[in-house]
Amino acid sequence: MSSYTSRSIDAQGNAAYSDEENRVWQDLITRQIPVVQERACQEYMNGLRLLNLPRDRIPQCHEISRALHAAQGWALEPVPALIPCNQFFSLLANRKFPAATFIRRREELNYMQEPDIFHEVFGHCPMLTNPACADFAYTYGKLALSAKPEDLVC
Ligand SMILES: [Fe+2]
Repeated sequence: MSSYTSRSIDAQGNAAYSDEENRVWQDLITRQIPVVQERACQEYMNGLRLLNLPRDRIPQCHEISRALHAAQGWALEPVPALIPCNQFFSLLANRKFPAATFIRRREELNYMQEPDIFHEVFGHCPMLTNPACADFAYTYGKLALSAKPEDLVC
């Protein structure tokens, strides 16, 4: 059972995050940038540059979607929480990547079980700007949707 709740999305597509939540993002990204600079592949670093993530606040899904769409036709889809497999695959098959709109608490800065918005945006979105990875995720979603339920491990 989740101890986090996604922020609701208003008519303009925005989620309202608290100052503390924005500071958690700021601390996470400030800490991780030098780590990926030393270790990540060039494709990831290119994607990170294209996303041009804000440092001082959690970005909105529509902002990320703009960059993803320009790169490989993907969008970041806000979802309430962990979603059923079928919904996940269906989103991928439509070039949409799900992101729950909450961020970890400071006590869980280093690790949390559930994927939060930082995990999805910083961890996954850069590679979705890469043609091979973007097409792989799309094909993966499509194939999973057409697979027999007994062949899926969810
Ligand atoms: Fe993940």
